[in-house]
Amino acid sequence: MITHYLKNLQMKKTNIYDCSMIEIDKHHHEKGNISVVENGKTIPFNVKRVYYLYDVPGGESRGGHAHKELQQFIVAASGSFDVTLDDGILKRTFTINRPYRGLLIVPGIWRELDNFSSGSVCLVLASTEYTEDDYIRDYNMFKEYKK
Ligand code: TYD
Repeated sequence: MITHYLKNLQMKKTNIYDCSMIEIDKHHHEKGNISVVENGKTIPFNVKRVYYLYDVPGGESRGGHAHKELQQFIVAASGSFDVTLDDGILKRTFTINRPYRGLLIVPGIWRELDNFSSGSVCLVLASTEYTEDDYIRDYNMFKEYKK
């Protein structure tokens, strides 16, 4: 999977099939569970930044942009939400609803997040530091980039 993934990192060439759900090891204990994400093992990049979305009002949507280089791994640390991926040609919606399963998003993919359940927490592991230059926030511009 990782070899295939590395060939397709150029944002112009990526498509929604380069994105996938990845199972995270679950250490089950009677007193509670632990899931662990490791750089280069669970996910094919090194985490530089972690952020999380929470207190998203009912009916609200997030995202509405693509990234030129950023790779992300998105987990529902709590609750559930939907992520719709769009490579300029095809769209696919994933329901993210387990703390032991995450969605890998490669560069060059437009995403919308919606349908947040009450109290949900969207945990994002990101491959680079935050920079606004990496964002494409205009859908028409995104379509141009993908040509
Ligand atoms: P954005 O990524 O557009 O949010 P979403 O995709 O969830 O709708 O981020 C919203 C704002 O938050 C952005 O304009 C600046 C700030 N922000 C940071 O300062 N650092 C970060 O790492 C992130 C992700 C956002």
